[in-house]
Amino acid sequence: MPAQRVLVVVPTYDEALTLPSTLARLRAAVPHAHVLVVDDASPDGTGDLADAAAASDPAVHVLHRAGKDGLGAAYVAGFGWALDGGYDIVVEMDADGSHQPEQLPRLLAALDDPAPAGDRPTELVIGSRWVPGGRVENWPWHRAALSRGGNAYVRAALGLHLQDATAGFRAYRAETLRAIDLAGVESHGYCFQVDMAWRVARGGGRVVEVPITFVERTAGRSKMSRAIVTEALWKVTAWGARRRVEQLRPRG
Ligand code: GDD
Ligand code: MN
Repeated sequence: MPAQRVLVVVPTYDEALTLPSTLARLRAAVPHAHVLVVDDASPDGTGDLADAAAASDPAVHVLHRAGKDGLGAAYVAGFGWALDGGYDIVVEMDADGSHQPEQLPRLLAALDDPAPAGDRPTELVIGSRWVPGGRVENWPWHRAALSRGGNAYVRAALGLHLQDATAGFRAYRAETLRAIDLAGVESHGYCFQVDMAWRVARGGGRVVEVPITFVERTAGRSKMSRAIVTEALWKVTAWGARRRVEQLRPRG
């Protein structure tokens, strides 16, 4: 079997303090993987740092976008670039060091693990904070409560059997992304993660969680905001309501 081509998509907004070390760790930990930095014209010059990395390393690529337009839109653009480039596996990873590149081989291995007899092959692997063995280092209690509470709400509203549906460290098969109407994904903020997990699960795809240690950033700032939480709450509630209506509708 020819080697699988892996692209790690790293969205950035004002991550000049952390992007260079994240790229260096990633290139060392998974040398065969290519990287695409998707920068939303960061005022702190992150885009220039990404260009410098790309100039000295042919495995690093940069997609510059006009301005801050949300995590979801950045990933949709990055996924389109990956599919056009013919990659086989597409990874999502944060730039701030919270997702440890050294743990990426675990995710990639899980994508290729044989599924139980009768099951379809795994289509999405989520690096999970909330399965046994998963952890978060240095989060304030209110962030952990938000993540656990948000995930409990997602399970109740959508019937998704995942412990960490909002996680942003993931590996997809390119063919799975190709089957999804990416242009129709309207989630802007972090609910993009739930949106995508739900789309894969509804399509009948097998989703597997592997434990990771999420390390809170030590430099720069989180872009999580009240607007991002509000969008997630509204969208998940609306998707859940639609799901219930569809369940009530007689089939035939
Ligand atoms: N291009 C672009 N545009 N990148 C963005 C944007 C945007 O509008 N907003 C955030 N990012 C990038 C950040 O620069 C970082 O690399 C990554 O997305 C994650 O952003 P953080 O701001 O560090 O997120 P967090 O640590 O608060 O949230 C984590 O947990 C969330 C909820 O569980 C992340 O892992 C999220 O992916 C996850 O959904
Ligand atoms: Mn972060």
